Amino acid sequence: MTSPGVTGEPTFVIQPDGSISYVNDVAESLFRTDPDRSNVGTSIFEYTSSSYQTALLNQFERIERGDAPAMGLTIEMSLGSGDPRELIALTTPVEWDGSEQIQLLLFDTDGELPTGLSARTMDATPIGISIADATREDEPLIYANGGFCELTGYEREEILGRSCRFLQGEKTDDATVAEIRRAIDAEEPITTEIRNYRKDGTMFWNRLTITPIEDETGTVTHFLGFQEDISERKVFEQEKALFQMQADATEQAVFITDADGRIEYVNPAFERTTGYSAADAIGENPRLLKSDQQDEAFYRELWETITAGEIWEAELTNRRKSGELYRTTQKIIPVTKPDGTITHFVTIEEDITDAQFIEQVLHVMDRVLRHNVRNSVTAISGYADLLEAELDAEEHGAAVQTIREHADKLGKLSNETRAIRELFHRRHAEHSLSVDAIEGFVEKRREMHPDTVLDLSMDVEEGMVVQNGSLLQLAIDEAIENAIVHNDRDEPHVEIRVTDVPDGSELCVEIADNGPGLPDDQWDVIMAGEETPLAHTTGIGLWLIYWTLSALGGTVDRTDNEPRGTVLTYRVPVAVGRQTKGWNPNT
Ligand SMILES: Cc1cc2nc3c(=O)[nH]c(=O)nc-3n(C[C@H](O)[C@H](O)[C@H](O)COP(=O)(O)O)c2cc1C
Repeated sequence: MTSPGVTGEPTFVIQPDGSISYVNDVAESLFRTDPDRSNVGTSIFEYTSSSYQTALLNQFERIERGDAPAMGLTIEMSLGSGDPRELIALTTPVEWDGSEQIQLLLFDTDGELPTGLSARTMDATPIGISIADATREDEPLIYANGGFCELTGYEREEILGRSCRFLQGEKTDDATVAEIRRAIDAEEPITTEIRNYRKDGTMFWNRLTITPIEDETGTVTHFLGFQEDISERKVFEQEKALFQMQADATEQAVFITDADGRIEYVNPAFERTTGYSAADAIGENPRLLKSDQQDEAFYRELWETITAGEIWEAELTNRRKSGELYRTTQKIIPVTKPDGTITHFVTIEEDITDAQFIEQVLHVMDRVLRHNVRNSVTAISGYADLLEAELDAEEHGAAVQTIREHADKLGKLSNETRAIRELFHRRHAEHSLSVDAIEGFVEKRREMHPDTVLDLSMDVEEGMVVQNGSLLQLAIDEAIENAIVHNDRDEPHVEIRVTDVPDGSELCVEIADNGPGLPDDQWDVIMAGEETPLAHTTGIGLWLIYWTLSALGGTVDRTDNEPRGTVLTYRVPVAVGRQTKGWNPNT
């Protein structure tokens, strides 16, 4: 239950025959008769009034036989001063000096002896000890030690005579209270964990042990209570349970090791990713996952970082149980106690094999579409020129024109793939764009389309910055191009209005044209979020706009323009501040 002397009560460790093998300072000062002779080696019966000796010896025998985990007795003992005093004696088994012995704790229910806190080391958690009268209605407290007062914030006078239920409150579990009541009524010992409240109203988790104490006739006369504040452990357990729930649900492989690197927990995603079950992994060192793709220096740096209490993050190759290699980003987070000692390491892994595969596919697609297709388009256009020069215009002019139009469409499609790559490429993630730069890329479109009227109006707060600005440029370019290419007017007119919301958190870009208007069915496909064989867009332009705006954390909306055409409205989160890295909109 407790180690000798921890509570600060007078404590002895006694051999089954009664000879004392340990005595704490408080007991020593109370019972020593000769200043030159320690109590150690003397018999406990020397200090026990004769009529109580048999009862005490009986208890020792019962403890020794293992009949009861703890026994109590009201006895009379004579102090070193010669005064007899009624005390409550608690006997429990204890391992001492390599043998099974008996611990005897003494409680002075009159509260007159200088016991309690005095012998307790200052930084030890106080252990509350309380004694209730079992013979009176509602088991009123007749004793509380200094630890109890320190733990609960109450003075002794405030609590003696009352049932200990004053520690309970709003969030105390009724079932636990009922369990305690049942144990008390049945005169059985109980250990439980209960939510209690200090005098100042703060909650703490109390690990409560209540033991019935019998007199020499076997009648229960008292209940002895031990109170221990276990809030820290409880909160840790609750946080751990919460963490575990989240870790169980996540797609990322998570494992936790102790400070020596022994795995204590793995989540289901770890089991799926690595092929090792929890039973395989727990107790092992994470070198279970080690592949030969990293050198010793890599692992040395890893350990140096985390044992210094810092987070380690890197990309590496691990090996599954099947032997297959996988690429992963790994983050190792040291978990420390308030004093800075590392207790655990939490590792979060993300399998990036798929992401790398997608990156490869995109790279090849990009090359094929941007270079090979563009080269073919140039060749087709060149031969169309040749045909035009060679053939009769009246007879074949329309056919040549059709070849040209299709070549242009292919050329546009090939350009649009640049945006797709941009979307998936993390390279530009940190590039921000000053909103003023919009003027630059609208000007560039003007140069490319001299027949189109391109009006730009800007009414925004100075210094506005869009994160990942290259995507905004793509979305604006795409809308302008669409508005021009699909325009059926002799004089295409596109108006770009850039404003911000009054609190400066959002940028609004409207692109209005005087074309035939964006067909409803095209827009509906985008809003539905998927294409079907029957419902699909004619190209990828609208998708590009939608994807880029989504990647920016923004939105796109469509309304009719007056008197004719379409208005696309982009809303994008912005910040006011400096650009993080230069992004040249003209590259
Ligand atoms: C010695 C002793 C110590 C006790 N210590 C506590 C305590 O620390 N916290 C608590 O909530 N209840 C404690 N109790 C339990 C309550 O006093 C009471 O018995 C419990 O609420 C069940 O009884 P009830 O249903 O009549 O309230 C203790 C009881 C005894 C006899």
